[in-house]
Amino acid sequence: MPHDVPPAGESVFTVEANSIRFGPGVLSEAGPIARDLGLKRVALFTDANLARQPCLAELRQSLAQAGVEAVVYDETRIEPTDRSFLAAAAFAGEGRFEGFVSLGGGSVIDTAKAANLYSTWPADFLDYVAAPYGQAKPVPGALKPHLACPTTSGTGSECTGVTVFDFEGQHIKTVVADRRLRPTMALIDPTTTHSLPAGVVASTGFDVLTHAIESYTARPFTVRPRPERPAARPMSQGANPWSDMGSLAAIRLGGRYLERAVKDAQDHEARHQVMYAATLAGIAFGNSGVHLPHAMSYAVAGLCHRWTAKGYESAAPMVPHGISVVLNAPAAFRFTAPACPERHREAAEALGADLGNVPLAEAGRVLADRLVEMMKATGLPNGLAALGYGESDLDALAKGASTQPRLLVNSPRPAGEAELKSIFAGSLRLW
Ligand SMILES: [Fe+2]
Repeated sequence: MPHDVPPAGESVFTVEANSIRFGPGVLSEAGPIARDLGLKRVALFTDANLARQPCLAELRQSLAQAGVEAVVYDETRIEPTDRSFLAAAAFAGEGRFEGFVSLGGGSVIDTAKAANLYSTWPADFLDYVAAPYGQAKPVPGALKPHLACPTTSGTGSECTGVTVFDFEGQHIKTVVADRRLRPTMALIDPTTTHSLPAGVVASTGFDVLTHAIESYTARPFTVRPRPERPAARPMSQGANPWSDMGSLAAIRLGGRYLERAVKDAQDHEARHQVMYAATLAGIAFGNSGVHLPHAMSYAVAGLCHRWTAKGYESAAPMVPHGISVVLNAPAAFRFTAPACPERHREAAEALGADLGNVPLAEAGRVLADRLVEMMKATGLPNGLAALGYGESDLDALAKGASTQPRLLVNSPRPAGEAELKSIFAGSLRLW
């Protein structure tokens, strides 16, 4: 616990989390839970791939047996856009639903959050969108109940008050961030990951690891000024004793199990442990925030629409979120390490790096090297160049990332456009 709070700094941290149920078979509890919440008619968000999976049948059966009518919306887009959010909100508005159930990866859960928001509190689309693209207006009141059921071990969206989308006109990803977006409950069944392609486990798993490392190395909450009102305390409050616990545990689990989970779909122990890591990291970064690799990822994913990742062949060409994040992570952590080398060293150790007699000044390099070692072992692309980016894109990438103040402010070491450009340059090729 920190004792040495600077006079003008923050002395209080917040622990906010939704209710979570974790374990095989939990989807069969959705019906009774929805009924206990007083829901008789819900919108059930999923995507076209999941529409044929047994987990959707299990969820529908549970809702039906509890007397809850569920209307399925499976037109969710992988890596959603402002347009796909508005289409989902129109469906939600017309359906007069009492609540929402989402079954899918982060894209599905985020779409349900947006549909809930814009159908419950209609407004101009940009009103709630984060600055500088939108007005960042707070959500004016409670949203309808939302049961979020993740099927990928990565998103963390089931635990957070953030929804991410591709803002098509601006070629950037951005968010709506408000604690009222946090789902009412997360129902997390790790058996849903058994059928995931290796490429999806890799991409989402590296998202987990980067969430956890960013959360652990974020600026400490004590360096923020204390807000004038308690309600003005941001969700991205910085690293704090609560988020540190979940972050470190998630890094350890990811370091131990991610490679196994990617390489062998039959290794259920590994896939379940990575799902638990995703949950712990989601709770952690939902209370601390992420920083540079995520700020940079929004530019990477927003600019490139020509590339198809392994495991995502059925989707339109795009960079899956986890890949757009982790390709920047080694260079970003080399850059941030001098601000808090001990934390980077602890993260490297938790990830399974061999520290030997490595001096503290090398902590960033050791952490980056361990991440790259894991990326090589799991078939990730060798840097942004493999996605089609080159030196001539660095200015646009840096400009895009520099428009993410919510994330940049959470970095332990300030990064302006020039620094971001140099980190992007270091991310073009990783080995
Ligand atoms: Fe993420």
